[in-house]
Amino acid sequence: MKDLYRLEHVYKTYKNYDHDYHALDDVSFTIKEGEIVVILGPSGSGKSTMLNLLSGIDTPSKGHIFFKDNRIDQLKTVELTQYRADNLGFIFQSYNLIPSLTVKENIELGKELAFKPLSVKTLMEQVELTSHANKYPYQLSGGQMQRVAIARALVKNPNVLFCDEPTGALDEETGKKVLDILQQMNQTYHTTMIIVTHNPSIADMAHTVIRMNSGKIVEMKHNKKIKKASELRWA
Ligand SMILES: Nc1ncnc2c1ncn2[C@@H]1O[C@H](COP(=O)(O)OP(=O)(O)OP(=O)(O)O)[C@@H](O)[C@H]1O
Ligand SMILES: [Mg+2]
Repeated sequence: MKDLYRLEHVYKTYKNYDHDYHALDDVSFTIKEGEIVVILGPSGSGKSTMLNLLSGIDTPSKGHIFFKDNRIDQLKTVELTQYRADNLGFIFQSYNLIPSLTVKENIELGKELAFKPLSVKTLMEQVELTSHANKYPYQLSGGQMQRVAIARALVKNPNVLFCDEPTGALDEETGKKVLDILQQMNQTYHTTMIIVTHNPSIADMAHTVIRMNSGKIVEMKHNKKIKKASELRWA
């Protein structure tokens, strides 16, 4: 598999009174196309900062970030917006659905400006929401809302799906169901998935696990055996 991201000596530095504070401190690694990557680490270790740099929401203070051999660390704001629109999908702990739109309409929103959108009908079947297509978000459970958010993010068929605590608001059973959907989508569409979480159990379903502490990568592990989401032991 080809490299999707390559980071070379990346720093994100903030001025803190009289000294520099490195939210990311000399980080280098690669992520391959089609991988599920889980980023773990304590609060303040730099996970969200990392996600923001990979997804072009923020730029590094120093170092190079390549996406498919193109440097994205030097892009201007408008170019970064285009990079996100062309390549990325996002899901968050808090779903971010539009309350006045139905399930189907929320998913259709994700199709806007897409080059090669997937079928909304097929996706609704894959995330098992067909029978809920005409409901509004307030009529759904947390797990169902998260599945709408997954379908909405995937309908444009992005290269990469960024997930910030995708199961943070869910109980074990529902969380595993959502992860199972992500795993199936990774297999079906080969979408690279970058998942930030506090839940170490999720690492067992990743191809690659990145462990962070104090702005550094303290471990990068490639799992030999990948667990199915349904087989995870929940922390
Ligand atoms: N805009 C900023 N200005 C100054 N410091 C910042 C800024 N953004 C982040 N930081 C600092 O960088 C460090 C890493 O923050 P980050 O949000 O990446 O942590 P995190 O691993 O995502 O934590 P959590 O698990 O709590 O979400 C923290 O110490 C944070 O206070
Ligand atoms: Mg964070």
